[in-house]
Amino acid sequence: MENLFAVIGDPIAHSMSPIMHNDLFSFYKIDAHYHPLRVQQEYLEDAIKGLKAIGISGFNVTAPHKTAIIPFLDQLDPLAKTIGAVNTVVNENGRLIGYNTDGSGFVRGLREKIVELLGKKVLIIGAGGAARAIYFSLASEGVSDIDIANRTIERAESLISTCPFSVRSRSLTMSEGEECANDYNIIIQTTSIGMSPQLEGIPFSAKNIKSGTIVSDIIYNPLETKFLREAKKKGAIVQNGLQMFVYQGALAFEKWTGMFPDTEMMKRNMMNQLGG
Ligand code: ATR
Repeated sequence: MENLFAVIGDPIAHSMSPIMHNDLFSFYKIDAHYHPLRVQQEYLEDAIKGLKAIGISGFNVTAPHKTAIIPFLDQLDPLAKTIGAVNTVVNENGRLIGYNTDGSGFVRGLREKIVELLGKKVLIIGAGGAARAIYFSLASEGVSDIDIANRTIERAESLISTCPFSVRSRSLTMSEGEECANDYNIIIQTTSIGMSPQLEGIPFSAKNIKSGTIVSDIIYNPLETKFLREAKKKGAIVQNGLQMFVYQGALAFEKWTGMFPDTEMMKRNMMNQLGG
């Protein structure tokens, strides 16, 4: 019988995950289908019970359910527990196990640009859910120097204070971050500023970014945000959000099937979808 997979969120129509996973199932000749399911917040618990009842094999979780889903799962992976958010669920013999592949997907993608992360000085722009997954994943891999710049500095302070890993971190205002941007080897933009259709938005001035800095923006629509364009003009080595999107999906696919898929093919397929 065909195995069922899904992504739950609200809204969900924009999600690229169904195309990505159905492409993989068909390429690897796996008898499975991946459905987008719109689940409103008030029905989350019922939806999870329903998915379990029909024997779903696994599913992804997107906004606004990544944290709210936790009480309805049977078990949590330790990193997902630390991050406080789940984006991937595996059904293991009727028990729903929650994982977070967002942060680890980001780190896998970043390693395409820079293999050795230890000893590097990192600045994260933003202090929301995506920043949290990336911050804790980098820290869990031994990156020990990570500052956070955010519009609301208290959110950066609170993120730093909850990190269980050994890491040296400062919280900065955006303008403090912009002033000392030349101190960093890697700068990671995690806010939604610059995402389609607000193409002219820019959360952080690239004026002090030094040549050779790795600058990553987790946005993949558009493929090049205004921030990346400005950073490129300063000689930065830039990366868009496609890697993170593809690797979080590849790691989810691996948890469901035991097979790590061809990420180059996934990137090509996604680029075609995005008109890149
Ligand atoms: P996500 O889960 O996608 O990371 P989030 O938790 O709502 O979303 O976090 C959004 C991030 O974008 C935050 O860092 C937010 O800054 P604040 O903590 O000050 O709200 C940042 N952000 C959103 N809109 C912004 C804006 N107009 N200018 C600067 N930062 C903004």
